[in-house]
Amino acid sequence: MAGKLFVILLLGLGLVNASPIAKRSVATDITAITTDVQKLDSDITGWDGTLLNAIPLLSDVTTIKTDINTAISDTNSSSTLGSSDSTTVTNEIVALQPVIATTLSDLAARASDVSAIGFTSTVQSNLEDLKTLADELTAALESKVTSSDVTKIETAATAIDSSFASAISAY
Ligand SMILES: *[C@@H]1O[C@H](CO)[C@@H](O)[C@H](O)[C@H]1NC(C)=O
Repeated sequence: MAGKLFVILLLGLGLVNASPIAKRSVATDITAITTDVQKLDSDITGWDGTLLNAIPLLSDVTTIKTDINTAISDTNSSSTLGSSDSTTVTNEIVALQPVIATTLSDLAARASDVSAIGFTSTVQSNLEDLKTLADELTAALESKVTSSDVTKIETAATAIDSSFASAISAY
């Protein structure tokens, strides 16, 4: 009874929520980013080239930025990942890399349509922002995963950077 009362008091004070971010939430964050990028890609390929229908694309990018920032701060708040959690998040990044590559290549293919609606510099600056965020996320993850997973994330990060570089040069 006294134990139960103590728990209720802790819950009331919000102390129970003060525990570190659960490690699995980083994996959930990366899953969300993957879903966001897939949505952006399908919106890019389905885009009719009109200004009006470009608005959802910008909102997709805003969502990606928000979700990458969440993943970075959850990663930073997480303690060092044990080998199972490390494998999970590493596999997610490795799987996300080709999704990013396809999306950026689909975006690069629409450069003349983007130019036609006057959005070239908007896309360019969004690509720069996303590249910076992707770099920050992979660096944050590298500081938490096991040493063999660091190498795998570095390889994925290099490929991601190179996809950004190609897309940026198309704009
Ligand atoms: C995450 O940690 C890195 C390295 O300490 C720091 O540069 C960055 O600002 C942090 N980002 C967030 C969103 O907490």
